[in-house]
Amino acid sequence: MSELSVNHLLGIKYLKEEDIQLIFETADQFKEVINRPIKKVPSLRDITIANLFFENSTRTKLSFELAEKRLSADVINFSASQSSVKKGETLIDTVNNILSMKVDMVVMRHPNPGAGVFLSKNVSASIVNAGDGAHEHPTQALLDSYSIREKLGDVAGKNIVIVGDILHSRVALSNIFALKLQGANVKVCGPKTLLPTYIESLGVGVETNLRKALEWCDVANMLRVQNERMDISYFPSTREYAQQYGVTKTLLDSLDKEIVIMHPGPINRGVEITSDVADSKQSIILNQVENGVAVRMAVIYLLASKIKK
Ligand code: CP
Repeated sequence: MSELSVNHLLGIKYLKEEDIQLIFETADQFKEVINRPIKKVPSLRDITIANLFFENSTRTKLSFELAEKRLSADVINFSASQSSVKKGETLIDTVNNILSMKVDMVVMRHPNPGAGVFLSKNVSASIVNAGDGAHEHPTQALLDSYSIREKLGDVAGKNIVIVGDILHSRVALSNIFALKLQGANVKVCGPKTLLPTYIESLGVGVETNLRKALEWCDVANMLRVQNERMDISYFPSTREYAQQYGVTKTLLDSLDKEIVIMHPGPINRGVEITSDVADSKQSIILNQVENGVAVRMAVIYLLASKIKK
């Protein structure tokens, strides 16, 4: 396979396994590039990319911008909080105004699930979903799988548990789709109130006991409790949540094997993960961030090569 089967990256659910392998093989080459003294290639000198962020971001926004600049694309950045969206402009009008400045690709984070799909049907640019509400965060899932592949050699056959607030998490959903597509065994773990009722229909196991989940897995992907998406309480207190679902060094050291610890960020230290775990040698959290640039370079490069045809 030499090109993606899609013209947009809207979610992992639209990808084939071959797409993921092509993205990873391309990311391998870009990872080599970004570790050179000159970390830049001229591949996308004729491409202009708009990064539209209607919701807060640190890692994803910086990672996309760096990936685009490493590929020599022209980059413009838009933050909804400083824009005319505040004056009532619609999403389509905002994007069409930006596209009239001859933009080829739009990377968008938006609080509404399906915003990327909507845009892809209404504007003539390649769309990359950088997180749409509690729906999908495809590049996060790709960089997570890429980091597992790098650490353990392969994703297929590995036991991966995703721990925490599955109900409100776009990272969980995209990871489940990506990991299942690659042949991993997936479980989710958390309080019942934070596990969606449909979750087993996605082919994942459910475990409410963190110790049992950690004893089973090769990799634990720890998720943040997404308080910003909660209008009611889902557990009695943060302290109780941390006691039952926070991973600690004592807990990890009591297992009879060494597991890999991941987290998409931002971390709430002392809640879902203690500092001594986040900063331990079992943690690949900063490797995930580093790999994010290479994986996003691969996604942008592969989508841009379809625009040019
Ligand atoms: N992982 C992630 O999406 O982080 P940001 O919200 O900081 O982009």
